[in-house]
Amino acid sequence: MTKKNDLAQIGVVGLAVMGSNLARNFARNGNTVAVYNRSPEKTRALISEHGSEGNFIPSETVEDFVASLERPRKAIIMVKAGAATDAVINQLVEAMDEGDIIIDGGNALYTDTIRREKEVAAKGRHFVGAGISGGEEGALNGPSIMPGGPAESWETLGPILESIAAKVDGVPCVTHIGPDGAGHFVKMVHNGIEYADMQVIGEAYQLLRYGAGMEPAEIAETFKEWNSGDLDSYLIEITAEVLAQTDPDTGRPLVDVIVDAAGQKGTGRWTAINGLELGVPVTAIAEAVFARALSSSAQQRQAAQEGELPSGDLPALDVDRAAFIEDVRRALYASKLIAYSQGFDEIKAGSDQFDWNVDPRDLATIWRGGCIIRAKFLDRIREAYDNNADLPALILDPYFKNELAGLIDPWRRVVVAATRLGLPAPVFSSSLSYYDSLRAKRLPAALIQAQRDYFGAHTFHRVDKPGVYHLEWSGDRSLTRTEN
Ligand code: 6PG
Repeated sequence: MTKKNDLAQIGVVGLAVMGSNLARNFARNGNTVAVYNRSPEKTRALISEHGSEGNFIPSETVEDFVASLERPRKAIIMVKAGAATDAVINQLVEAMDEGDIIIDGGNALYTDTIRREKEVAAKGRHFVGAGISGGEEGALNGPSIMPGGPAESWETLGPILESIAAKVDGVPCVTHIGPDGAGHFVKMVHNGIEYADMQVIGEAYQLLRYGAGMEPAEIAETFKEWNSGDLDSYLIEITAEVLAQTDPDTGRPLVDVIVDAAGQKGTGRWTAINGLELGVPVTAIAEAVFARALSSSAQQRQAAQEGELPSGDLPALDVDRAAFIEDVRRALYASKLIAYSQGFDEIKAGSDQFDWNVDPRDLATIWRGGCIIRAKFLDRIREAYDNNADLPALILDPYFKNELAGLIDPWRRVVVAATRLGLPAPVFSSSLSYYDSLRAKRLPAALIQAQRDYFGAHTFHRVDKPGVYHLEWSGDRSLTRTEN
């Protein structure tokens, strides 16, 4: 507990689970933490249940909270992203002074962060939008943190954020990502990759369950094995645990009693929308978002299940089971590579558009621990960008190209098997199409250009000479050069 007149190095506003766990993490790491929540019961509960874990200064008004902070004051907002964030920012701006730092640790939309940074900066305070990943457990024991905002704020904030971040090989999973909205942008894409990663794991499960006829407990063992190889990651690890879990009420596999309609709070959707806006084909992420939407289309699914949509012929799997399981593992790995590669493409495009100068190596470093998509192969991603900072695409790195050489045949076999079995595998199959599109010497885009020119005189370029051309489709079919 604190002595009277002590000041806090950091404050946390909003003491729901994420906020109070973050406050406890700060306190457990030797920081004195000011805490405030709109309804004081939460503040009191935190102090009575966890006050002994370190030094807390509880306040019941924003003014007292701000007064309990050491200068430059640093306060992290952990409230539901949206209007509540703006309300708290306004209160803090009012009560704070020039040079104080307001940090938004929620999953804010990066364009909101850009706007807020401008507004707060105009009033002489600093605003840092920080993505924080790792869920409740990460917030308490070490999250991965992606702070944006002014570089100057990072000077002050860096050490305190490093004190609570996850560490991998002694390296804290936090670094300054770039100005204004960069931190929240990168967190958004992290979540998009999270959606795709979860979906490919789901597709692998579906194929093993209904293609190879395996029971959840057996699949749990398979995932456990996979977790010691290339796929070693938090999401694979928890999947093994989830699949091994039985329902305490019925004794059935828990996964079988959960309604198969996946929810979403919006960050994956934002990533897909932003990919569309930037013209970056984040197909794996978008398919994962659509897969969640489809799973929740209860009425349509019900009607389709009642036999209205024919399945066609569905020949049973005619391959060796062990070989099929290994093929699925490889298809999962390949599709996951595509999702990460596309996510890094989007980050590069966003960084170029907003002049953020985001270094992909930083992300590969700070995503190795603490966050939901933490995975062993992030070390390989870092090496890829270490070797070539201007890599045109992650999958074109020599290491990953070589990996893909060993994955491509099984990946194709699995997509064929899914099609023959009538099992949906939207990310496995669209990622394979993406891969084949990238490597295709010719795409049907030439035909699309001709169609566009036909009905709208939209013109086209030629492969053999410069200039812009139009063909008189409805006239004499003569070719004109419309521009040089
Ligand atoms: C994280 C998670 C976290 C949250 C997601 C879940 O990085 O810790 O991404 O931010 O669990 O927002 O998102 P959905 O509810 O949309 O699945």
